Amino acid sequence: MKRYFCYTLIGCTFLVTILSFNFLESQGLKDVSSFPIGTAINFDQLKADAKLKKIQIENFNSITAENDMKMYNVKPNEKEYNWDKVDQMMAYAQKNKQRVFGHTLVWHSGTPDWVKEKGRKDTLWLDNFLKEYILDYVGRYKGKIEGWDVVNEALETEGGDYRKTLWYNVLGKNYIHKAFKYAHEADPNAKLFYNDFNIERDTLKLQGVLNMVKDLKSENVPISGIGFQMHIRMDIPGEVIEHALKKAAETGLLIHLSEVDIIFNKHDDTKNGGVQKYQELTEEMKIAQAEKYKNLVDIYKRVVPKEQQYGITFWGFTDRDSWVKSFFKINDWPCLFDDNLEAKPAYHSFKKALH
Ligand code: G3I
Repeated sequence: MKRYFCYTLIGCTFLVTILSFNFLESQGLKDVSSFPIGTAINFDQLKADAKLKKIQIENFNSITAENDMKMYNVKPNEKEYNWDKVDQMMAYAQKNKQRVFGHTLVWHSGTPDWVKEKGRKDTLWLDNFLKEYILDYVGRYKGKIEGWDVVNEALETEGGDYRKTLWYNVLGKNYIHKAFKYAHEADPNAKLFYNDFNIERDTLKLQGVLNMVKDLKSENVPISGIGFQMHIRMDIPGEVIEHALKKAAETGLLIHLSEVDIIFNKHDDTKNGGVQKYQELTEEMKIAQAEKYKNLVDIYKRVVPKEQQYGITFWGFTDRDSWVKSFFKINDWPCLFDDNLEAKPAYHSFKKALH
């Protein structure tokens, strides 16, 4: 009798172990995370690619338009707004219970030529356009778009100086204050972020962001959070990232890792500026990248207080579609899924770290 009982217990334990393993395997990243897990998407591509869409729905509860919500797509000319793609994305997000994060209201690279041409000649027109565009856009999606990159990359690529863009040159640094105030006026409940790159490793640039945040807060400008784009390279030490996130978290603002990918090759931050150091993705490289993704989650959870963890958003989730290759003109493998949309070791290590 006793032996029968032992065999039954072993059998049941084995069965429970298998069932729970299968259950965990069937869960997506969003199911095992205490904060939102997002990804940038190209909506037309997502609609057309069933496998891509299945992975996106299973793993992500936050969605960012890679390009569809930029000014050059939403306001392609002075006469019209192009809401169709945004409306489709909103419907998709609502159906799949995903947070929509708006990227981005004011960005030099997102500004269409017609605005640059008019704006550089007419300060008053640009000032009024900035207000009208933000009130129209944020107002249209009031209560539907949870958060915005209100201003993106307002600092120079390196160091803490303001980037000399159309917006800065014509309106002065006050365009940033105005953009946040207009966005808040249009949707008082939306979370409003300043977003930039390399601030996890360029201490001067990070200080520039922290100075800006202090300036905005001193003038009661409604900023909710800081977006670390986190387009990082394998060779950036974890301690460097940890220090930056700790300094940012000390502001008390929300911290969003907003455009995460981890690349192997080097670049100089400019278009076509990549250096093809690695010709192929080896098993060792996959394991090293998996460790790096795990470390990123560990650092985020360790140094950003829970109430400030706005989430981790990938800038695409497949090596096949990553912006890195076309922008830097290199081959690279920065994402959680490979060229065939199969999960890499990075996916499993990232998921395990979320638990
Ligand atoms: O869709 C057109 C296509 O019809 C045309 O033939 C082709 C000709 O060049 O251009 C295509 O549009 C390109 C678009 O991506 C879609 O692929 C634009 O030229 C190209 O400039 C655009 O690049 C995007 C870039 O932002 C500029 O908007 C990248 O996909 C996108 O990943 C990148 O994302 C930025 C974030 O917004 C801000 N942080 C950095 C990040 C990476 O640069």
